[in-house]
Amino acid sequence: MTDWQKSGWRAKPRVQMPDYTDAAALAAVEARLTQYPPLVFAGEARRLKSQLGAASRGEAFLLQGGDCAEAFDQFSADAIRDTFKVMLQMAMVLTYGAKVPVVKVGRMAGQFAKPRSAPTETVEGLELPSYRGDIINELAFTPEARIPNPEKMLQAYTQAAATLNLLRAFSKGGYADMHQVHQWTLGFTESEKAAKYREMANHIADALDFMTAAGIDSAQAHTLQTVDFYTSHESLLLEYEEALTRLDSTSGKWLAGSGHMLWIGDRTRQPDGAHVEFLRGVQNPIGLKCGPTMTSDDLKRLLATLNPGNEAGRLTLIARFGAGKVADNLPRLIRTVEEEGAKVLWVCDPMHGNTIKSATGYKTRPFEAVLREVQEFFGIHRAEGTIPGGVHFEMTGQDVTECTGGMRALSDENLSDRYHTACDPRLNASQSLELAFLVAEELKVLRDDRKQAQAV
Ligand code: PEP
Ligand code: CO
Repeated sequence: MTDWQKSGWRAKPRVQMPDYTDAAALAAVEARLTQYPPLVFAGEARRLKSQLGAASRGEAFLLQGGDCAEAFDQFSADAIRDTFKVMLQMAMVLTYGAKVPVVKVGRMAGQFAKPRSAPTETVEGLELPSYRGDIINELAFTPEARIPNPEKMLQAYTQAAATLNLLRAFSKGGYADMHQVHQWTLGFTESEKAAKYREMANHIADALDFMTAAGIDSAQAHTLQTVDFYTSHESLLLEYEEALTRLDSTSGKWLAGSGHMLWIGDRTRQPDGAHVEFLRGVQNPIGLKCGPTMTSDDLKRLLATLNPGNEAGRLTLIARFGAGKVADNLPRLIRTVEEEGAKVLWVCDPMHGNTIKSATGYKTRPFEAVLREVQEFFGIHRAEGTIPGGVHFEMTGQDVTECTGGMRALSDENLSDRYHTACDPRLNASQSLELAFLVAEELKVLRDDRKQAQAV
């Protein structure tokens, strides 16, 4: 791209970004990060792009999930392992139901910066700047903690690098071997769905034994023993993103080196704004959150700006309207995409349109609303004849109590038991597994429809 520079966003209007007070400290951090190695390789981003292209055609399915916000004080090998485990379990349920490959993308190893609905927060008469994620300031409610500190970018980089290192080890080192399908369960997830998972795992183990006996599996050993696991985050803090952006010598194109897939949030998608300007010039696959305020005109401009070559897999539209609001919004945006002949991957984020305040004062999400939005998303794609190609969740492998409902029927009163998120409420491991079974059922219906259509 000849009309683009990695610093070009600086001339555009920006929202949701901190005003650093110490310009020298900021410049020093940017200079350090510019020298650090990128976290991902361009070949990986291209491979993910081609897999997302397959998902946009219904030949694969995207599972994207992880924390709302990664936190410095919750950084541990166990937490990374448990989220990875739940994603493997969910992917297995989806693969088994849909009979297509599942593309696994974590909201991990870089998901540190948060857009906020209000710039300040008031507690007992004291008004302070909002918390914007550990890469920017601190959650503690004191004036000092809320000052944006550029040094935090270096700690975020280190945590992202260590997280990605462990994810690569798990993905390629044997942990994700399909023969381990029984080992990915977590002790506390006991429920009807956990039993259903074990039953499915038995079938898979049987099939693997059969393949070994028939001499089939050795040729495919690599496919069964390793997985591709990619990272993603909201590309919000552009000083950090720019500093990690590098020219890829193979393609001669720019790569954002902070993660494989980057997305633009619902609050930062102004067609003339800084975030769109930055992301249009990097070759990574890009996500775009679409909430109820997305107009058809804006979407048209964004399609043209972010994917001028209409490349499959380049652009993922992440619909996040809220249960009950999908029918008002998704059909008009689907029709815009169809009119433009744009190649996009449609994904459902049933989290961000369903956040409420519980009677006990916690920010929560009713699990029932999350399920309903997923069903509405699939229903509308069936009616429009378009392809629902993936899901995007805020979830964790930890046994948290942040979203109400689910098989174990968490109530408002339970929320205080283990409410650990630094930002939005996440699905716990058993709610995540339950959701995966529901999505698998929806995918099975689609597959049966398609088979029937082929038969006539
Ligand atoms: C998020 O994904 O954490 C987020 C803030 O989403 P959205 O931009 O859709 O509100
Ligand atoms: Co969130």
